[in-house]
Amino acid sequence: MKSDSNKIKKATISAEGLSRLISLKGEARQRLWEEAGKVQEKVVGKKVFFRGLIEFSNFCTKNCYYCGIRKDNRNIDRYDIPDDAILSAARFAYKNRYGSLVLQSGERSDDRFVERISRLLYEIKKLSKGELGITISLGEQTRETYKEWFKAGAHRYLLRIESSDEELYYRIHPRDEKHDYQTRLKCLYTLKELGYQTGTGVMIGLPFQTYEHLAKDLLFMKEFDVHMVGMGPYIEHHDTPLYRYREQLWPLQRRFEVALNMIATLRLLMPDINIAAATALQAIDPMGREKALKCGANIIMPNITPTANRKNYLLYENKPCTDEGADDCTNCLNVRIAMAGREVGYGEWGDSKHYRKKPPSIPPVGGRN
Ligand code: 5AD
Ligand code: SF4
Ligand code: FES
Repeated sequence: MKSDSNKIKKATISAEGLSRLISLKGEARQRLWEEAGKVQEKVVGKKVFFRGLIEFSNFCTKNCYYCGIRKDNRNIDRYDIPDDAILSAARFAYKNRYGSLVLQSGERSDDRFVERISRLLYEIKKLSKGELGITISLGEQTRETYKEWFKAGAHRYLLRIESSDEELYYRIHPRDEKHDYQTRLKCLYTLKELGYQTGTGVMIGLPFQTYEHLAKDLLFMKEFDVHMVGMGPYIEHHDTPLYRYREQLWPLQRRFEVALNMIATLRLLMPDINIAAATALQAIDPMGREKALKCGANIIMPNITPTANRKNYLLYENKPCTDEGADDCTNCLNVRIAMAGREVGYGEWGDSKHYRKKPPSIPPVGGRN
């Protein structure tokens, strides 16, 4: 219905309208999802791009109150996958025509770590003849480090703001030098200025979070003019400080639905960006990621971390694919994506169209395709 679609689009121009969309239920919600799916097909098409995710280490120097691999959690085995195993995973992504991969770990910024990442980036570019796109998600770093990694071959960076409301930010992070909201914000601007395709995101359904906070998050993404977004439901982890608020949380199903509403609303607000179907969606609903692909998401991150390590990268509970291998996930996703009426963009970088509109001042190593 035309009038419905106009009403939905009109709602995206104010914070109140956005809050209303984010909180929709029942049939109205269904119409929002359908509208976002249509805009998605029209603007970014039916293709979904793979980013092979390598969670190569769970050592972390930070203490985010929500995260299962925070520094003070003594109840997990820490691991750091050796370089040759990381490179094998990268080779797997290249051979299976994934187009891109994501290197993610807990946050560290010591010199050894910084140099190691540079080396890995060069190696991955080399083994894939410059063809694999590389996204990194390695937290807050100095401008020099970001610059060095960009030069070494990374061209996309994911740094979730987690919440764009400073007050809420400090309810989910310690208020100290290592968890400074302004520093995080500055990092995002630095990444963009250096020419990275820059991604951010938030968690949905955090304790103390309201629809107004989430509307503010979407406006933040719009104002920051982000290229890509990954956001998903918050899922409590028993070994974290936020676990004590579990009774106050929205039921899991509500967190899931609001996460989809956020994805759909963001697709209407920023039609040409890349939006990931976060893995956390699947921790709640076995078809969670597929549902997201139908209402706005166009990126999926198959886990290609060696299986033996997957069980130790538990940021939240009930994380999917912890027993599967990379091949299992690829096969599984092929079927799932077809079921969602989408197709995989094999062998393509699948850059954000929003980024291509505004080329960076420094071209990525290895060129773009
Ligand atoms: N639930 C959902 N997402 C989480 N993350 C960390 N802990 C949790 C959790 N308990 C997300 C954060 C981080 C990303 C790597 O994982 O948003 O940026
Ligand atoms: Fe470390 Fe990231 Fe977890 Fe925070 S969210 S504790 S920085 S891994
Ligand atoms: Fe990993 Fe389905 S995506 S098993």
